[in-house]
Amino acid sequence: MSRRRLFVTTALPYANGSFHIGHIMEYIQADIWVRFQRLCGHEVHFVCADDAHGAPIMLKAEAEGVTAEQLVARFAAERPSHLQGFHIGFDNWHSTHSPENTALSQDIYRKLKAAGLVYSKAIEQFYDPLKGMFLADRYIKGECPKCGAKDQYGDACENCSSVYSPTELRNPYSTLSGAKPVLKSSEHFFFKLSDPRCRQFLKGWLEHPGRLQPQVLNKAREWLEGEGDKALGDWDISRDAPYFGIPIPDAPGKYLYCWVDAPIGYLASLKNYCAKRNLDFEKTLNESEQIHFIGKDIIYFHTLFWPAMLNFAGAPYKVPDHVYVHGFIGVSGEKMSKSRGTGVSPLRYLEIGMNPEWLRYYIAAKLNANVEDLDFNPDDFLARVNSDLVGKYVNIASRCAPFLQRHFGGKLHSLAGTFEIGCGLRPDSLMYELHTRASAIAALYDSREFGKALREVMLLADAVNHYVDEKKPWDLAKRPEDAERLHVVCSVAINAFRLLTVYLKPVLPDLANAVEKFLRVTPLTWIDAEKLLPEGHQIDAFRHLMARVDEKQLDALFEPPAPTAAAPAARSPQTHAEHQQHAAREQAVSAAITIDDFARLDLRVARIVEAEAVAGADKLVRLTLDIGSGTRTVFAGIKAAYAPEALRGRLTVMVTNLAPRKMRFGVSEGMILAASGDDGPGIFLVSPDSGAQPGMRVK
Ligand code: MSP
Ligand code: ZN
Repeated sequence: MSRRRLFVTTALPYANGSFHIGHIMEYIQADIWVRFQRLCGHEVHFVCADDAHGAPIMLKAEAEGVTAEQLVARFAAERPSHLQGFHIGFDNWHSTHSPENTALSQDIYRKLKAAGLVYSKAIEQFYDPLKGMFLADRYIKGECPKCGAKDQYGDACENCSSVYSPTELRNPYSTLSGAKPVLKSSEHFFFKLSDPRCRQFLKGWLEHPGRLQPQVLNKAREWLEGEGDKALGDWDISRDAPYFGIPIPDAPGKYLYCWVDAPIGYLASLKNYCAKRNLDFEKTLNESEQIHFIGKDIIYFHTLFWPAMLNFAGAPYKVPDHVYVHGFIGVSGEKMSKSRGTGVSPLRYLEIGMNPEWLRYYIAAKLNANVEDLDFNPDDFLARVNSDLVGKYVNIASRCAPFLQRHFGGKLHSLAGTFEIGCGLRPDSLMYELHTRASAIAALYDSREFGKALREVMLLADAVNHYVDEKKPWDLAKRPEDAERLHVVCSVAINAFRLLTVYLKPVLPDLANAVEKFLRVTPLTWIDAEKLLPEGHQIDAFRHLMARVDEKQLDALFEPPAPTAAAPAARSPQTHAEHQQHAAREQAVSAAITIDDFARLDLRVARIVEAEAVAGADKLVRLTLDIGSGTRTVFAGIKAAYAPEALRGRLTVMVTNLAPRKMRFGVSEGMILAASGDDGPGIFLVSPDSGAQPGMRVK
């Protein structure tokens, strides 16, 4: 087989959050594939990066009072330890907010423009006059135009499921400031995906044999061939300032939409890596197969926009060779929420000291080459790992190595010229069977049928255990005349164990390392499956290789990170399901925050200088609050518990740095603190002890 050159990526995670189990699953899939290719002697450049740009990141940074760069840097800082924790061996981790990406993105933009595929036109869009920015649909809410349900998003109603455009909402408001959005026109740039050249190219690219999984090809074909209102439209690739992104050349105040520069980040990371390794970027790019591992939610971007952009930008860019799509991982039958990332926290998994290779094995065992979802089920996890890895695979070495140590000084018998093996291996022998499965297992790894590959390996492990059961080394060891038989049987088992280690190495790199030390061999590669350990080869005393999963660890995995005193006292959960409910409940009241999180709240002592009922609102009181540095207006829903005149003059505590919120009766500039039960007695205003002065910080 000729040596392949591979440029492999995984999707770039949004830079405003920690990894969740979905990210880790994707990286594990790609990492196993990459490790397999490397074991076969192929050259792989495996890179990823943070996807740093876009409005959500900009707004989150603003809300936290930090720059977008600082926010991104905070999450970037935790990436390496989390990746190493799961043995994910990227060659490089970069960022879309980088000089390389700016240069590449602007270059690609210019080339697409020169190719006549970019045009501009004015569009009307909702604009938040208070924030001074255009609003994406998700930042606009209002009343459903069909059923009148309140607080519905700009694109669809959760109450009656009708879809509409944000301009159809009744009483729309910006979720960022509460302000009423106004329609405003602005010049946008478009990528002409509807151009016949694009369609023709995409058709050819999609249909190229073996490029895409059949399910993915079908989807993409549907999009490409859609007609009428389903027809593939041109793509709006610009955003107006303020935006955290890459400036569009010669267009002041205009930025590339983050989904334009995100995939270019693949190339930016490769370029950054090439510079570090003294490789020629363009040469590396051109000589390598380009392969993207992604999840099913971002097929659209990767099978239409991305190849078209690359193709029409021309040299030195080239189109992707494959886009490999996986399904979503859920936990105990529940879908994972992208934002909340429920279920299994990969970071907690590492923190409580669970073995990362258990997860690698479990996920690999459930993966295939289709776009299928998979489930992390704790009971299944425990059973699978304990029975396969500990009960079948490690068991072979732990059963046989001690005999070799005790009776033969750790030296192996030759497997040639014995009753087991003639000259070479007998076709009906166990070792022969183990050797000959190598190519089938390799083909399964190569086609990402990891579940099938591991089933093959476990069948072989069963066969080896069966062999040991049959030969009964523990009996042979009792009879001096059977010494040689004992020696051969244990040597066969250790050789078999070595082969199984080769087959498992893409999934279990760390364990394979430990086995290499124990067997005193150089790092195993795929061709080692063709060899045997020679006569007299010395191995070490058997050492502990892998512990069993303990149920208690799974309990800990599903427990909330830091229980606080405020959590309700409850019976300890007993089952996994209970643990999950328990975790969800506890998190609802007591998700831990850091002191820095707390410090972001600006709480002040406030004197209520004016209080009046709001006409037309039966719960609201309009308060004028003196906070030392000035006065603020706050609408508080406390009329049921307090008569306005009883409030005048008293002190309370106010959150002063809450974003102002436009309400029906005016803008509320903060919030006052009050206690209330879910269904118990009403509202109790918080007040400081006497002596406190308006404006004092509460902390
Ligand atoms: N930033 C974009 C990708 C840009 S690529 C040029 C993005 N980021 S993401 O953080 O939301 O998702 C990153 C990857 O994780 C995607 O491939 C996505 O499909 C994958 N997953 C997110 N949730 C997942 C699961 N629950 N299960 C498996 N993978 C999932 O999209
Ligand atoms: Zn509705």
